Amino acid sequence: MAMRIFSGIQPTGELHIGNYFGAIQRWVELQHGNDTIYSIVDYHALTNEDTVPAELRTARRELALDLLACGINPERSILYLQSDVPEHAELCWILGCVASYGDLTRMTQFKEKAARQEFVNGGLFYYPVLQAADILLYKADHVPVGEDQVQHLEEARRIARRFNSRFGETFPEPEPILGEGARIMSLADPERKMSKSAGPEHYIGLMEPEESIRRKVRSAVTDVGLTPSQEMSPGVANLFALLELVAPREVVEGFRRDHAAGKLLYRDLKEALFTHLMAALRPVRERRAKLVSRGDVDEVLAHGAERARAIARETMREVRARVGLD
Ligand code: TYM
Repeated sequence: MAMRIFSGIQPTGELHIGNYFGAIQRWVELQHGNDTIYSIVDYHALTNEDTVPAELRTARRELALDLLACGINPERSILYLQSDVPEHAELCWILGCVASYGDLTRMTQFKEKAARQEFVNGGLFYYPVLQAADILLYKADHVPVGEDQVQHLEEARRIARRFNSRFGETFPEPEPILGEGARIMSLADPERKMSKSAGPEHYIGLMEPEESIRRKVRSAVTDVGLTPSQEMSPGVANLFALLELVAPREVVEGFRRDHAAGKLLYRDLKEALFTHLMAALRPVRERRAKLVSRGDVDEVLAHGAERARAIARETMREVRARVGLD
């Protein structure tokens, strides 16, 4: 049976291979046979204090082009900017009134971000409620994401459950869809996930110059952090995990045999990873280069917003009636 799929991504800097293998590849696959809705979540991006208005405007557009290059097809999927559908903010408020303050204080991502900053804005705290609103506004039942979003999805399910038990059955409880690349680690520090916020040495941009990718792969950390009970250091395990995503099985198995026999040369493993990674990314990079001049991206997003809004309005009509606002 066709699923109603929703997912979102923040327009904060360039797309990296963690986003791509962790989520976007799944977004593309799920376009076949399902009802897919994908959002560039610019309201969420405002929780990031470094977000500069002019850059946000450009980043949204660039990200839309990146997603098209990755294979998101606006004829199959609804692709739109979150802030073009203000119902997200309206539902967020209403859901905030059924969410548990205690649960929100336990969100790992909030705790980590708050610990790193001196000033913590309220939006950062409310972030998971807005995320729940994104999903529930479309009554999505499945959400393709990386592992770092699983806790936010549990919160979305709790919010749906509380809303349903207080106001009557309204929302499905959304389930995550996790793929093989659900947890890609940083090459420079393989004990933390690959992310933009850690700095450019921690991620590989999808459209990054080839030479720069080669350099990052070659300098990936390998031998640090190996404990006696482990067979492989986190860095080597991450290189294998990446290789599995891009190389044929026999190539991976060959390297695994070398590793087991104690004769694996990291240099060879890295070289193979670089070659297969570039081959896997090439079609996307080539499509992106051609899309630079695609003038109709604004129309694509406007059309997406119109379609999203029609569904959102319908849900809000029902929600307002349920809670007694209509
Ligand atoms: P964001 O913008 O940080 O990341 C977008 C997607 O990429 C995945 N991802 C990763 N997967 C594997 N390994 C990694 N190192 C890695 N880094 C990122 C993320 O899990 C995500 O799927 N809160 C969300 C955006 C959001 C959303 C939503 C998602 C807002 N509303 C509703 C789903 C449903 C976020 O910040 O993703």
